[in-house]
Amino acid sequence: MPKPKYTTHLGMVDILPDESPKWRALEQIIHEEAARFNFEEIRTPIMEQTELIVRGVGQLTDIVSKEIFAFEKGDSHYVLRPELTAPVVRAFVEHHMQQRGGSQKLYYIGPMFRAEKPQKGRQRQFHQFGLEILGSDDPIADVECIAFMMRIYQRIGIKNFDLKLNSVGDPESREAYKEALRDYLKPNLDQMSELSQKRFEKNPMRILDSKEEEDQPFIEKAPVIQDYLNDESKEHFEKVKTYLGDLGISYTMDPHLVRGMDYYTRTAFELTSPDLGSQDALAGGGRYDLLVEEVGGPSTPAVGFAAGMERLMIACEELGIELAEEKKVDVYFVTLGDAARKWALTHLPKTREAGLSATMDYMSRSMKAQMKDANRENALYTLIVGDNELNEGKFTLRNMKESEEMSLSFEEIIEKLNKKLL
Ligand code: HAM
Repeated sequence: MPKPKYTTHLGMVDILPDESPKWRALEQIIHEEAARFNFEEIRTPIMEQTELIVRGVGQLTDIVSKEIFAFEKGDSHYVLRPELTAPVVRAFVEHHMQQRGGSQKLYYIGPMFRAEKPQKGRQRQFHQFGLEILGSDDPIADVECIAFMMRIYQRIGIKNFDLKLNSVGDPESREAYKEALRDYLKPNLDQMSELSQKRFEKNPMRILDSKEEEDQPFIEKAPVIQDYLNDESKEHFEKVKTYLGDLGISYTMDPHLVRGMDYYTRTAFELTSPDLGSQDALAGGGRYDLLVEEVGGPSTPAVGFAAGMERLMIACEELGIELAEEKKVDVYFVTLGDAARKWALTHLPKTREAGLSATMDYMSRSMKAQMKDANRENALYTLIVGDNELNEGKFTLRNMKESEEMSLSFEEIIEKLNKKLL
């Protein structure tokens, strides 16, 4: 085939008709489970103000320093959203959502954009589903958030994963820890990567997230934040762990888990899968008790997570899990001649109104070609109509799987199919 003149951008992917049923099936599961948890859906624009993302996610993070798609138009600075926590917080503040009362339990599904180097499981436009619970500092909120995340994978049948858990502390605990970390790293700093040296002063905890080989020996032996948590953070974290145990959700402690955004406080978690290869993070999240204030809202504790939908799809493929049933159509109208085509056109709506899916040939093809097309479309029945059938008011209904045929009036056909298929 000749190379097309226009193609998608690097790392951006079309979801074609063969794939979209999987996406719809997954989205339906998310909507259903969210309803069971009494979470409400939020949809925000694809573009946000650059400043929000820089402040929200953090200037020194990879996302902001390397990966955002940003542009200017007039006086406005736009960014394609790389994640939805900061935008949801922006919406919460902008619409005074705390006035709705109680905690806001908001879930979302949608595309995100990060200018990363594409590889399997890593795209520049990818999709997340996620949840943000605003207004509660109760460890119950952390655990409900994790339980919702796990429930989606459980329902789909993905069971093989590792929930990594950490507490990154509150500002007080973190200051004490950062000092200890700097004291520990300082003597070896000149042997560490350039990036880690850059992070040393402003954000030494991000060094723990370094993937650079030369940093690993120092990271391995670094002090752990658990030893620096103040009583409140410690108590909070203990409760999270206890409640997870109460729900039978197993986890492994990962004292070096810091996550890729600066907004986290206390609980941080990541769900990884051995079925994913190098991009093994299925989902991640944590608490961000200071972010609402940081972007100009009232002091509001919050916790949330987001999950990569492409990665979930890859895990399903690896495990042979079919998210969607095979596509089918209930009735394919096979037409012979103009009068039959016109009859089909006016009887398609009646069939659909009866709750059945129905289609016909749009290309005036031969009967043989139409039967072939009906098979390709996975039609359960064909309704064959020509001049004779129109004169008699009786049509041939063919069960495609059984190869059985019956001659019935249109009303009888609808009644029969309704009984069989609905
Ligand atoms: P994140 O860890 O950056 O967290 O992203 C969550 C998930 O999105 C990842 O675990 C991964 O599955 C998927 N993901 C991230 N980047 C890509 C990519 N380039 N291609 C494919 N999938 C990707 C957040 O976004 C936070 N907002 C989560 C959160 C919500 N924290 C609190 N509330």
